[in-house]
Amino acid sequence: KKSEFGLFGLGVMGKSLSRNLANKGFNISLFNRHIKDTEEDVAKNFKNEFKELSTSLPFDNIEAFVNSLEKPRKIMLMVNAGKIVDDVIEDLLPFLDAGDILIDGGNSNYNKTKERFDYLKSKNIHFVGAGVSGGEEGALKGPSIMPGCPKEVYKNVQPFLEAIAAKDANNLPCCTHIGTEGSGHFVKMVHNGIEYVEMQLLAEVFVMLKALGKNPDEIANILESWKATTNSYLLEITVDILRKKEGDDWLVHKIMDKAGNKGTGNWTTIATAELGVPSTMIASALFARYTSFYKEERVNASESFKENTTQNLNLTTGDILEGYQFARIINHYQGLKLIQEASKSYHWDLNLSELARIWTNGCIIKSDLMVELVTVFKSTDNLLTDKSIIQKIKALKPSIKKVVSEGVLNELAVPNFSESINFLNSFAVANSSANLIQAQRDYFGAHTYQRINDDSNKFYHTEWNN
Ligand code: 6PG
Repeated sequence: KKSEFGLFGLGVMGKSLSRNLANKGFNISLFNRHIKDTEEDVAKNFKNEFKELSTSLPFDNIEAFVNSLEKPRKIMLMVNAGKIVDDVIEDLLPFLDAGDILIDGGNSNYNKTKERFDYLKSKNIHFVGAGVSGGEEGALKGPSIMPGCPKEVYKNVQPFLEAIAAKDANNLPCCTHIGTEGSGHFVKMVHNGIEYVEMQLLAEVFVMLKALGKNPDEIANILESWKATTNSYLLEITVDILRKKEGDDWLVHKIMDKAGNKGTGNWTTIATAELGVPSTMIASALFARYTSFYKEERVNASESFKENTTQNLNLTTGDILEGYQFARIINHYQGLKLIQEASKSYHWDLNLSELARIWTNGCIIKSDLMVELVTVFKSTDNLLTDKSIIQKIKALKPSIKKVVSEGVLNELAVPNFSESINFLNSFAVANSSANLIQAQRDYFGAHTYQRINDDSNKFYHTEWNN
């Protein structure tokens, strides 16, 4: 009997997704290469480890794996993003038939996904670029899945992907057809950009609460109390992290303060720059990670620029909570704005409310705010025009101003908090300073400018020295 679905690559995510599929009753085939220099049969050993996999078919031979699948074949690739995806596609191609479907479930770059889509189309193979969020546990118990492909192709993979996805509050799957080709991976990429900011904001909260003299347990208790109004997955895990001890010290004190990244925040920043969208908080969160990486130079700089002023942070934890709430709204505005602008440029016709909905469970950025946004995006694509959001922002503004001012006065690193209010200050202003920029451009480069109260679309040049 042939399998209904194939899983290629049994790393952490591949293994969890396989077990999830098997738990939902699907007959699956599993493939993994022998690990170099060992004779370990990864797929077979894995199958034997879990009883839900008792009817699954393990392979270490690509041809046999492909032949074990029902046509049109559906093969999900769970391999590292990058060149490996192309190598795997080449390895599979000789054994595939027209109409077969490959699904890339990794964090691939959306531009690459588009290229692979076109390449495989020329070989009559369908390609689905699917963002998968939720880490190891999400993959096992129900991730949020963001598949991009033609709608007809989606129908073939829908029963599988929707069965294994997390469920929202109405028991609907946190998986929906996003749009064509690269759209799924684009949306997942921006999900990660929003994730970078949510993480950085919590790191800045940590900095400020530390400066108020709190230890990690006390900070965890404060964050715990925030769950009642401002819960999110990332807040929850941060509470757990802060409570973790090793010996008589907190583990967080022993972790090297250099933040890594696998590239999605970098790509989101490139995309936002290319599309001309000011998602400033994502860029700022990315650069905060990059700054952290200069550990040695930071240590030296901290000596060079040391001041003898005593810290006097005039803030309550309530101010910090409200500042955090403010910054999160701006983050979600900016992230979804980027998606909306990409949707227009690439003609993806994305549905922001649906995106928020599939992000209410399973994924890393699930939160109470995301649940609220499902409704808000039903009536507008622009968060900053929604009455309830406007009310909230106005109510929270005094706190973010105070938090950022106090942070700066006390020389605390709060770039993301600061960016959130600076963005609103730049955006919610009828007459900006860009008139001066235009004059400067015209002065040195004769780039011309338009005039206020002149709708003739005329461009003017001035001889500035006369
Ligand atoms: C998710 C995560 C996941 C992964 C990222 C982290 O949605 O499940 O975003 O994709 O943890 O690779 O990215 P960095 O390594 O760049 O922080």
